[in-house]
Amino acid sequence: MKEKIEILKQQLKDIKIESKDQLEDFRLQYLSKKGKLQDLFADFKTVAKEDKPAVGQMINVLKNQAQDVYNHFKSDISSQDSSSEKEFDLTRPVNFSHIGARHPISLVRKEIIDIFNRIGFVISEGPEVEDDFHVFTALNFPEEHPARDMQDTFFIEKDPDIALRTHTSSVQVRIMESQKPPIRTISPGRVFRNEAISARAHCIFHQVEGLYVDKNVSFADLKQTLLYFAKEMFGEETKIRLRPSYFPFTEPSAEMDVSCNICGGKGCNVCKYTGWLEILGCGMVDPNVLTNCGIDAEEYTGFAFGMGVERIAMLKYQVKDLRLFFENDKRFLDQFSGAY
Ligand code: DAH
Repeated sequence: MKEKIEILKQQLKDIKIESKDQLEDFRLQYLSKKGKLQDLFADFKTVAKEDKPAVGQMINVLKNQAQDVYNHFKSDISSQDSSSEKEFDLTRPVNFSHIGARHPISLVRKEIIDIFNRIGFVISEGPEVEDDFHVFTALNFPEEHPARDMQDTFFIEKDPDIALRTHTSSVQVRIMESQKPPIRTISPGRVFRNEAISARAHCIFHQVEGLYVDKNVSFADLKQTLLYFAKEMFGEETKIRLRPSYFPFTEPSAEMDVSCNICGGKGCNVCKYTGWLEILGCGMVDPNVLTNCGIDAEEYTGFAFGMGVERIAMLKYQVKDLRLFFENDKRFLDQFSGAY
């Protein structure tokens, strides 16, 4: 019996426990009801009476020793566990959280602004809710012009003098009323038209207006400015073409096409096999408009232009349906993440 106890004592000294499973094995082998210590207690009955006190003490010491071993390794293993939880694996791939992206309209708007900023155009803004004078009258719109029709413009019932601006040309008027030439400004903003929504039209869209008023501003200045813009926006190879047109507030007026950046002017379905894409309206500011805004039309001349941001974004990103810009479908918008 004593020998058995000595052997177990030695075993306990040498024991090494490295995992939770081994710890559980140890508990079963030594401390459980069917374990080795319990066997000793069972054998204890057979020990001679005179030996009982000494052997009983030995068994108790052994039992405490086993319990100490168990406790020691248990705390060892649980501290290993919690310290491994706290450790950081610095080689693990970073878990990027998804951050938003700029909207394609904002991207194009910003690019247009940057291009004109580089040649001295400053940003100006005006109200979206305007009066008839700034949207139409000052800009030389005749009384019977269809743009003044309820069909095209959002008016309010109470006061037909108040309307949502149909173009950013209204900002031209506000600038010329409040500033003296030289004026060199671009006005980005939202505009509103009472149109049925389709792949090519929307009742809300964005424009950028340009205005340059000074002494001796000529059509050649307009053309060079727009050529510079087209090359910066669509690439160095881009060509421009000005076609005569009509706007009440410019004389002469023109519409500008750029060579198709998809087929390089050879003809494709984007440019409808013409090789050209229309991107903006422009012209020399009509002397009546200068006068309406308090600028001496004898002393000053100016040019103006206006472009649709959605139209340019559609060409730049090959988007065939304008509605995608307004629907905020994440699958569409995600394609622009990473672009600045
Ligand atoms: N306001 C015009 C439109 O909405 C665009 C435009 C054409 C603006 C000619 C101009 C311009 O400044 O000179 O269609």
